[in-house]
Amino acid sequence: MRNFGLPAGIMGMAVIMLAACVHDDVEMTGTAIAEEAVEDAGPETPTVYYAMTDIYQPQFQGYADTAFWVWNDEGELDASGLTEEQWETMLVSAKNLRDISLQFSEEPDIRVAEPGEQLFNEGKGFIPSESVQAVIDTNPDGFRAMMAYMAEQSDLAVQAVEARNAQGVSDASDNIYAACKSCHTAFWYPGRR
Ligand code: HEC
Repeated sequence: MRNFGLPAGIMGMAVIMLAACVHDDVEMTGTAIAEEAVEDAGPETPTVYYAMTDIYQPQFQGYADTAFWVWNDEGELDASGLTEEQWETMLVSAKNLRDISLQFSEEPDIRVAEPGEQLFNEGKGFIPSESVQAVIDTNPDGFRAMMAYMAEQSDLAVQAVEARNAQGVSDASDNIYAACKSCHTAFWYPGRR
């Protein structure tokens, strides 16, 4: 892996501390409790850190490592060698990438990590979670837009897999990879390539 130096702008950037979200200490009536239950019904959006390590990385591998096999030994597009199991792996992985990205694209409160959690290679040329949080907090709409784009590309992957369209499967793999990369460039190590 390449070693990314710390961008100077990030070093001087003030760290924005997010106030913890505290529930009002009020007695709730039965209706209020029922209403709150409805509001909270959706799955909670995980931290970016959790999502990246436990969802994005493995699901991307599930899709892209399998999509590689739409090319045969002669370097031609030819999906005939793929097993049903491989098609299923790609379908499930692409759907998972789409759904989590859609969820992030609609999340008002993007949280990078739990307090004290160490990110990948933090301190070894990579910035800590508080700095990533500060970068995202300066442009949360941009982050959500990139997640919406990620969801779109993953949905194209789902469609290509469902249609058994080898070219579409391969293109979607490249586009998803590019979507990972451009968000990392913008929000993880801004100013770098
Ligand atoms: C909309 C933004 C965005 C998209 C899209 C995105 N990432 Fe990330 N990713 C981040 C941010 C921000 C970090 C740095 C914070 C962190 O480490 O969790 C990160 C960090 C990571 C890490 C390091 C996690 C760690 O251990 O700290 C991995 C691995 C990763 N992303 C994989 C992927 C893959 C694979 C994709 C595409 C399938 C992807 N990401 C798409 C924003 C994004």
